[in-house]
Amino acid sequence: MTQKVDKIKEEIKCFHIKTYNDLETFRIKFLGKKKGILTILFKELKKISIYKRKIYGKIINELKKEVQDKIKVFQSKNDIQNDKKLKLDPTIPGRSIEIGSRHPLSLIKKRIIDIFIKIGFSYVDGPEIEDDWHNFTALNIPISHPSREMQDTFFLCKNPDILLRTHTSSVQIRYMKKHCPPFRVLSIGKVYRNETISSRSNFMFHQAEGFYIDKKVSFSDLKQTIHYFIISLFGNAKIRFRPSYFPFTEPSAEVDIYCNNGWLEIMGCGMIDPKVLENVNIDSEIYSGFAFGLGIERLALIIYQIKDIRIYFDNDIRFLKQFKSEF
Ligand code: DAH
Repeated sequence: MTQKVDKIKEEIKCFHIKTYNDLETFRIKFLGKKKGILTILFKELKKISIYKRKIYGKIINELKKEVQDKIKVFQSKNDIQNDKKLKLDPTIPGRSIEIGSRHPLSLIKKRIIDIFIKIGFSYVDGPEIEDDWHNFTALNIPISHPSREMQDTFFLCKNPDILLRTHTSSVQIRYMKKHCPPFRVLSIGKVYRNETISSRSNFMFHQAEGFYIDKKVSFSDLKQTIHYFIISLFGNAKIRFRPSYFPFTEPSAEVDIYCNNGWLEIMGCGMIDPKVLENVNIDSEIYSGFAFGLGIERLALIIYQIKDIRIYFDNDIRFLKQFKSEF
């Protein structure tokens, strides 16, 4: 046994480790799980008497420690050298940090918020995952209402009461339920529709929603507010109010803007239907209000003269970096 130990000791000492490959060969030769020289010796220990096991166990453990020490010495030397090499290598290229830019839709969103904050509106967010009541029923769109047809969306299979909101008008309901008038509120966010993607439509787009409730709010307040908004955004633009229909406003109108020799529809609006106010326990004998809603992508098409809304979501840096951030 002593001869065997001496031989192994010698082998450990004389093994030349120059590379990390050598290091691995060395480790496997002595400590490999199946055929490592020391591993086998450890296994053989089980077969001899306790008395001898103690003595030889100690010797084999010392050999094991010699192997481990040799591995450590190589590693610490070479890791330091690798480190030094790295620090001194001037050819390694630096890591450049790409600076992103604001998305054009975020820029428009910010402009709209700034415009309404100036006239006393506060900004709130609402959930994109809604229930049927907030998205439809409370807004005077009962189950069988034909306008549901135009706002088909994505429902949760397990619970069809839960859906992706089709418009930001649901924020009106959420806010009015929790607050007492007077208030002026703006909300902007994503909405969803079950629609095929084309140059003019997408299954997801952004809307801005505004509403104002107080005593004696009238249609002329609505007109004045929309006028102020359009002038602030477009300069001296020509606009018109066209009678329309929405289940949650009465009377309702659509607002068109004159550009490129034609009228372009940009938003819906109207006086909030007394039924909607009652649904959220606001006394429609005392309070009245107006609301409006508009598509941000649409607005951005006009402002930036873009022809296809799909470009907003292509993530094409050549398109995105053209927009200068003002904030
Ligand atoms: N929610 C409507 C839609 O998505 C837009 C709208 C129209 C919002 C009239 C309003 C409004 O607040 O008064 O088509």
